[in-house]
Amino acid sequence: MGLAKSAGQEQRAAPEQLGELHGARLAGGYPPAQIGVAPAPGNPRSGPSRSSLPRVERCGTRAARFEGSANAFPPRIARDNPSSEMTQAPAVPARCTREVQSFYEAYPYPSERSPMLRSGFCLRRVLSMGSLSREPGRTLQVLDAGCGRGVGLVTCASLHPDATVLGVDICERSLQDAREEIARRGLSNARVQALDLSTLAGLEVPAGGFDVIYSSGVVHHLEDPMGALAKLREVLAPGGVLVIMVYGTIGRLEIKRVARTLKAWLAPGLTIEEKLEAARFLVQGLAKGDADECPWQAAASLADAEFVDRYLHPQETDYDIPGFFDLIEGAGLAWLQWCNPEAWSLAGHLESGPLRDSIEALPLRERLSAIEQIRAPKNLQAFAVHPENSARTLPPPKQWRETLFAANPEVHFAVGRRNLWRSSRIENVAFAKRAAEPVDLEAGCTTEAGLILSTQNEPFRGAALIEALKVAGYDEAQALEGLRELLRLELIYSPHEVELT
Ligand SMILES: C[S@@+](CC[C@H](N)C(=O)[O-])C[C@H]1O[C@@H](n2cnc3c(N)ncnc32)[C@H](O)[C@@H]1O
Repeated sequence: MGLAKSAGQEQRAAPEQLGELHGARLAGGYPPAQIGVAPAPGNPRSGPSRSSLPRVERCGTRAARFEGSANAFPPRIARDNPSSEMTQAPAVPARCTREVQSFYEAYPYPSERSPMLRSGFCLRRVLSMGSLSREPGRTLQVLDAGCGRGVGLVTCASLHPDATVLGVDICERSLQDAREEIARRGLSNARVQALDLSTLAGLEVPAGGFDVIYSSGVVHHLEDPMGALAKLREVLAPGGVLVIMVYGTIGRLEIKRVARTLKAWLAPGLTIEEKLEAARFLVQGLAKGDADECPWQAAASLADAEFVDRYLHPQETDYDIPGFFDLIEGAGLAWLQWCNPEAWSLAGHLESGPLRDSIEALPLRERLSAIEQIRAPKNLQAFAVHPENSARTLPPPKQWRETLFAANPEVHFAVGRRNLWRSSRIENVAFAKRAAEPVDLEAGCTTEAGLILSTQNEPFRGAALIEALKVAGYDEAQALEGLRELLRLELIYSPHEVELT
């Protein structure tokens, strides 16, 4: 509707309006530039007063070296000269760690280095999930614990030029690849460090701890995953969020069957390269048909790094729901929510009715265990926080005018603009999240809102977008519906007020 109107209007535009048309307005026009920086409530210049914010513990005033402690909250950090520690050689790792280390030196993970493939790298959106906000005025500090070849940390650093991102790993070959990628992209806010996550010895901890810690596919390869997670908890800022991914037991039953079979068939004493060659030969012989139906075919289609990681790993643990909650809580953390809630939804898998209702009425863990059996996720990916933190809920729509919103930097907009004779027309607005294919926004208010968002790099109050949509011909209810849709699609999120400081 809006698009049809806009096409007509733009075609009638006079040549002297070209300046405006450069912004290619939709029906009724909208502010062609940004809809404005959101002033903090009650204080347009300096943001919210500290007293209005949730309490945030300070745990240091300058960078420090990790010393480790049994059960510290807030993070307990030794005040030493951090720079001298940075150059200190890591202690000799334990036997299991050495085995894992040489495994990854042979096959650095992943095989594909292109970033933007991973989800969950909108830092302020991640932080907005918890009710505690971070300390005002601090640079955002991020740790990628077990960064591998740096796919996640490069994505994160390039989406957040204002954040400092540190990647640590025990595999020197992976770190070298990450360093090269950081240099190739000119990312001055990212760096890497060789370090054993079993001890964290030598880790330079920023004052106040890390705001976001990523650990994707790592702690399940350690001898003591819970102990390593507890150490990460010690360096997590009080309002910080730890993003963890570990293997799921139920979803990996087929993978484990193949892995067990290969291990049983392979002669003992082979090097990892020899194991791979022999395993490839066996898998090739058994692979047939569709990878979804034949686990051997699924194995045959993998690149070397993913193949060995999945089927020939010397050390791994997997988790069902009770085991996963034990891991998180045993490390002194609290589960906040899944990173991929759609994978834990019954919609589309179970008709609505008494069975679905009874599953949805179960207490949290029982419900998740039931869904785990039905949906069998291969990985468990969750946000975890200090137990003092909790889930933050978005205010109801009637308060959205005053609510702070921001565009998700993981979203790439594609505006389909056609230049006509002395006028132009916008024919569609599409968005792509991460590496996914672009999706057209539904014509109407959502498209109009998407078009506004496509040039919006400042946080804004809901009222600014609602008013812009009203100028474009939509009423308040339609504008609120548009906002709801943008939130549902994760094109926008509501950051903590502290982000304005
Ligand atoms: C499956 S890869 C995941 C890499 C990266 N997180 C990603 O998602 O692309 C596991 C990584 O954990 C690292 N790792 C394993 N044990 C480690 C340890 N004790 N200390 C530090 N890194 C370790 C490995 O070197 C490897 O790079």
